Amino acid sequence: MADLMVLCSTTPEMQLRLSGAFDVVYEHDLPDVPTWLDEHGEDIRYILTDGHLGLPSEVLSRVPNLKAVSSYGVGYDAIDTGKTNARGIPVSHTPSVLDEEVATTALLLYLSVMRGFVTQANHAKAGRWETQGGLPLTRSADGRKIGILGLGRIGKALARKLAPFGAEISYCGRSMQDNDYQYFASLTEMARHVDVLICIAPGGASTHHIVNADVMAALGANGVLINVGRGSIVDEIALASALNSGTLGGAGLDVFENEPYIPKTLREMPNVVVTPHIGSATIETRRAMGALAVDNIVEHKASGKMHTPVPECIHLFN
Ligand code: NAP
Ligand code: 8YV
Repeated sequence: MADLMVLCSTTPEMQLRLSGAFDVVYEHDLPDVPTWLDEHGEDIRYILTDGHLGLPSEVLSRVPNLKAVSSYGVGYDAIDTGKTNARGIPVSHTPSVLDEEVATTALLLYLSVMRGFVTQANHAKAGRWETQGGLPLTRSADGRKIGILGLGRIGKALARKLAPFGAEISYCGRSMQDNDYQYFASLTEMARHVDVLICIAPGGASTHHIVNADVMAALGANGVLINVGRGSIVDEIALASALNSGTLGGAGLDVFENEPYIPKTLREMPNVVVTPHIGSATIETRRAMGALAVDNIVEHKASGKMHTPVPECIHLFN
């Protein structure tokens, strides 16, 4: 009788630990999850998922005895914590252990866009330097004004990584923090002030399309937008239009509105660098995330507690 359902992909290390603590059923082994759950859902006590898959309602509605959910990732906008809280089911995620990796991904996108690195590398690799000569000059990544939307754990790691580039950092969020960076309550005001806007805020209703046409216009024709937060933060149609018309200078994107779909315009523009949601995707960081995701459900089974519950469900442990 399986008591743990795994919806997401897992590493061999995770599988080994899970099999020692649970009777596991993997979603990918089932021809049809809802049909299987109609027969066996009452046995499932734990679910392991990730930030992409979340907790689909056709799963949640078929597991009446679910005790806890562990998500393998820090962003949990794909999990409806209103619904899980209503049933007293705690949800955990994997904060902190991925901060440096995701910040490095944002830094790489920033440097790549500013210096046209992917276009330059493709030009050289294709042998076009020899036949067509060099490409136009690019713009320096040193000494820029950089605005961070979402100066949280990852945003702060990013600000530290940008310091050696002489970046002048400002940030926008719902509240002002106790630090030396310049705070903007208005995202449009910050966009007007900076050369580069880097988004590393959570997804969900409160950030949906907050990077809109006005914000892009405020960034301006030489402005650069980097998004490693969630695709839903940026209005992708407005982005393609701003890049096409030249009212925005360039973009570096790791996340998209309808992953894994990336609009053709964004894939083909030379001033846009796209990556397939690889913010945390290294062996070392996924190992750390996997260990914490497993620790959370193992701990819940042993003691009823979780190491890193999401803020919305902390009251369930009091
Ligand atoms: P965090 O520590 O909770 O920081 C989130 C920041 O966003 C906070 O500074 C918060 O500031 C701000 N924020 C939240 N809601 C906001 C809103 N409605 N408007 C403006 N600012 C808002 O989270 P984190 O660990 O740094 O992770 C941030 C996000 O990165 C995750 O939620 C996830 O979506 C994304 N992520 C992406 C990847 C990837 O692979 N690309 C990997 C990991 C994480 P205030 O509370 O002051 O508003
Ligand atoms: C993962 C992420 O790709 O942690 C997050 O919020 O977006 C990424 O680290 C995702 O959670 C899948 O594991």
